[in-house]
Amino acid sequence: TSLPKEAWGSRLGLILAMAGNAVGLGNFLRFPVQAVQNGGGAFIIPYLVCFFLLGIPLLFIEWSSGRFGGKFGNHSTPFILDSMGKRAAWKYIGVFGIFTNIGVVAYYTYIESWSFSYVLHALIGTFEGMSQSQVAQFFDEYISLGSSTLGIPLEPLFFYVLVLFLNVYILSKGLGGIEKVAKIGMPLLILFGILLAVTAYQLGDSGRSAEFPDANAWDGFNFLWTPQFDSLLNPKVWLAAAGQIFFTLSVGMGTIQCYAAYLDSKDDIALNSVSAGFMNEFVEVVLGSAIVIPIAAGYLGIDWVLENAGFGMAFQTMPFLFQQWGEFFAAIAGVSWFGLLFFAGITSSLAMGTPWMGFMKDEFGWGKKKGAYSFGLLALIMGLPTVLFYHQGVFEEYDYWAGTVSLVVFALLESILFAWVFGMNKGWNEITTGADIKVPQVYKFIIKYITPLLLIFVFLGALITPEGNQWASTIQSLFSGQGWNLDPGSIIEKLSHADIKIELAASQSQEEIR
Ligand code: PHE
Ligand code: NA
Repeated sequence: TSLPKEAWGSRLGLILAMAGNAVGLGNFLRFPVQAVQNGGGAFIIPYLVCFFLLGIPLLFIEWSSGRFGGKFGNHSTPFILDSMGKRAAWKYIGVFGIFTNIGVVAYYTYIESWSFSYVLHALIGTFEGMSQSQVAQFFDEYISLGSSTLGIPLEPLFFYVLVLFLNVYILSKGLGGIEKVAKIGMPLLILFGILLAVTAYQLGDSGRSAEFPDANAWDGFNFLWTPQFDSLLNPKVWLAAAGQIFFTLSVGMGTIQCYAAYLDSKDDIALNSVSAGFMNEFVEVVLGSAIVIPIAAGYLGIDWVLENAGFGMAFQTMPFLFQQWGEFFAAIAGVSWFGLLFFAGITSSLAMGTPWMGFMKDEFGWGKKKGAYSFGLLALIMGLPTVLFYHQGVFEEYDYWAGTVSLVVFALLESILFAWVFGMNKGWNEITTGADIKVPQVYKFIIKYITPLLLIFVFLGALITPEGNQWASTIQSLFSGQGWNLDPGSIIEKLSHADIKIELAASQSQEEIR
């Protein structure tokens, strides 16, 4: 064709777009909750080990696979993998890298739309004078498609469609649109994050609530940062740490390969990928851990946090706590916090649209508009169940299958393809060509052996998690002939009960309609 080839406008734009892809709701909503639920300081060592042994290697693999496929005009994983492996099977495995995104974007943009509407609510002072339970109730009513304080019928659905449309509109402008949003969104996000984190530090140790006289923000920091080495022997913590590394770095999704496919074949990969990865870790480990947990601990006490740690804290607790800073600062804090979440979200959801668009372009010659709008339509169809049946756990199912299991499966397969089919020597050559830093040789060994092995362990661990996560005693029970009892949370158990759950959800929602 005579059209100029689509490419990134500048190196800065590329890095910000890649960092924007990685930095997302996972950094601020998922990381703190995972850390608390897995013992705080007990989580951080496996987490960092997984960053260096799974995260960095997979970044190298995905960036270089993408740039390699891009040389042949491929921009989505089915064809990128096809250009690396000789069997047709790889093309089908690559399909993961398109549909996982649509599964994740469906619930991800929904949370993004909550953030958007909460920015408005913070601005107009919806939470002024509300008690803690009133703020929580506001959220419950919101997601139940209940009353609308803005006078908009079906408010969450309205904002969901609006935010989806915003995504589609930006995507229809191509890479330039994504770069522009990243250039505005990332600096703002970091600014808001620093603002809130500094506030948390300054809450310091005074007991701020009569109800919780021991409340102390430092308890939150200490809980997260006092390492506990015994956790190294707990597979459950390792699984959670690996899962978080996947989600937060956006590996196993297909978005990184797609972005990298628009690189020039001589562009650097090594330094760019490490920079984007470290930027994500800074935002996660430094900013992500310095906001929700310390602020909540500063008012309500660490015990409250341990009992109530969950995803809702961001929407149910934070707006109430901000009220303690007076009307004016509450509005600033609310706008900063939900604005930060919104920018974190949109730079990631945009990334999730690109593999589909790239595929349709390469395969059927679809233009940007057609690609973007069809993506929006798919996301809407997939997303409606999460909006309409939020309480039936549809959301959790999406996050589990699309946002967790398929990432691990896909990453395992692509790492085998890269190191063992494409070949480690060729692969290393791809990683180091054009490199602006010297990649430590040890990564050649890590990528070839450690990463795939660790991935196999992670996958098997999730597949056959024993009841109550009791590995030692279940292994004993196996050897003494008493079999292996699976946990309801293991993949096998979940697979065998998925159909029952869907029937249950369907009958529940029918009852609700009646
Ligand atoms: N990495 C993003 C986050 O931390 C989520 C994401 C996953 C984005 C996959 C794009 C692709 O929230
Ligand atoms: Na992230």
